[in-house]
Amino acid sequence: MLISSLRTTIFCGCRSAGKSFQYSTRSPLRKWLLKRGHSTVTVEGGTSTSAAAASVPNAASNRIVGRWLLGCSGLVVGAIVLGGVTRLTESGLSMVDWHLVREMKPPQSEGEWEAEFSKYQQFPEFKILNHNMTLPEFKFIFYMEWGHRMWGRLVGLAYILPTIYFWKKGYFTRSMKGKVLGLCGFVFFQGLLGWYMVKSGLEEKPESHDIPRVSQYRLSAHLGSALLLYCASMWTGLTLLLPAHRIAETKKLMQLRRFAKGTGGLVFLTALSGAFVAGLDAGLVYNSFPKMADRWIPDDLLAFSPTLKNFFENPTTVQFDHRILGITSLTAITGLYLFSRRMMLPKRAKIAISLLAAMAYTQVALGIATLLLYVPTPLAATHQSGSVALLSLAIWVLAELRRMPK
Ligand code: HEM
Repeated sequence: MLISSLRTTIFCGCRSAGKSFQYSTRSPLRKWLLKRGHSTVTVEGGTSTSAAAASVPNAASNRIVGRWLLGCSGLVVGAIVLGGVTRLTESGLSMVDWHLVREMKPPQSEGEWEAEFSKYQQFPEFKILNHNMTLPEFKFIFYMEWGHRMWGRLVGLAYILPTIYFWKKGYFTRSMKGKVLGLCGFVFFQGLLGWYMVKSGLEEKPESHDIPRVSQYRLSAHLGSALLLYCASMWTGLTLLLPAHRIAETKKLMQLRRFAKGTGGLVFLTALSGAFVAGLDAGLVYNSFPKMADRWIPDDLLAFSPTLKNFFENPTTVQFDHRILGITSLTAITGLYLFSRRMMLPKRAKIAISLLAAMAYTQVALGIATLLLYVPTPLAATHQSGSVALLSLAIWVLAELRRMPK
């Protein structure tokens, strides 16, 4: 019985995330092997001579890969939060060079600290903003930035090392190989983008009277690509872990799915516009809500020329856009919630949509409080993390509503 079970063909045809497996589940041993994630069961196709190992990926290996990807997206959230706190404590320009391995060891002796501090003193942030800074104060901002960079390396290792291991074990389907390679490439790109962003804050700008800060374009690119990496990892992980629902493909369901996709895109755009607010310190102009000072539309909305420049460089316009996008996202999510109430949906999908709606109200309340209280660091950091929570819920909703693979 045991041998005949082992001889039985096990063919797992799960070609992509969420696809149902094409194997017979009659044999209890086979069930047990699949459950335990045994990856090396020899497959014999009828005769004893034609053997081919083909038992992975299977349900268990997909579960492992799915959990790993969710774990990685959790680490990306950590990097986003740490990055936000680093920016809010104005620590991001304390390390003035970049080296993949050498900078992993922070200065040890007082002499090394002095040398690091005098390097920092050559750059505009010290000269213009921090000329009274003491060595202990410098140590604080240095450790903030160092922690963010080390976390980035941890994220890189968390993607790359298991990728090599799972690849060797044959846990990836062909399409999954492409996806994980894309994710690993993305992590690397993210690191380079981070340094490219920091460099913009280290440049001397003799013609500028502004305080030294990184370019808001590069800050949004850095945050935007971190959010994309997060969304891609979470989506891939969730589609491996959550089986797609068998829901009748009605016109209403298709409308709901399209609505949910559009809403997810809107939330992403709002988060990106938030990075422009942060990059320009635009949360410090017009600290009133719903009006800006005593006007619905402020006077200096289009003060810069050409007009297009206002949308990316005028703090008033950037804040105005972020408010409009935030309120539009809230309206869209409320609409999605109300639309879904009138439909028969699986319980998990209903829960996800309700949580998304609750989080949208929380996020907007956090945004307004951040503005009214002149951007205190803990509140601003919570508002930033709130955007990640909102995006996560939007992705969960999309994963629940996704089409059943054919
Ligand atoms: C769906 C709604 C919203 C989302 C997803 C969102 C997202 C974000 C994000 C990602 C940031 C960048 C944070 C950083 O990099 O540190 C940000 C900044 C900010 N947001 Fe929102 N936001 C929303 C709604 C609002 C609303 C309605 C307001 C106020 C009326 C607001 C006020 C602010 C302010 C003042 C900042 C700057 C904080 C700083 O300088 O760190 N947000 N937002």
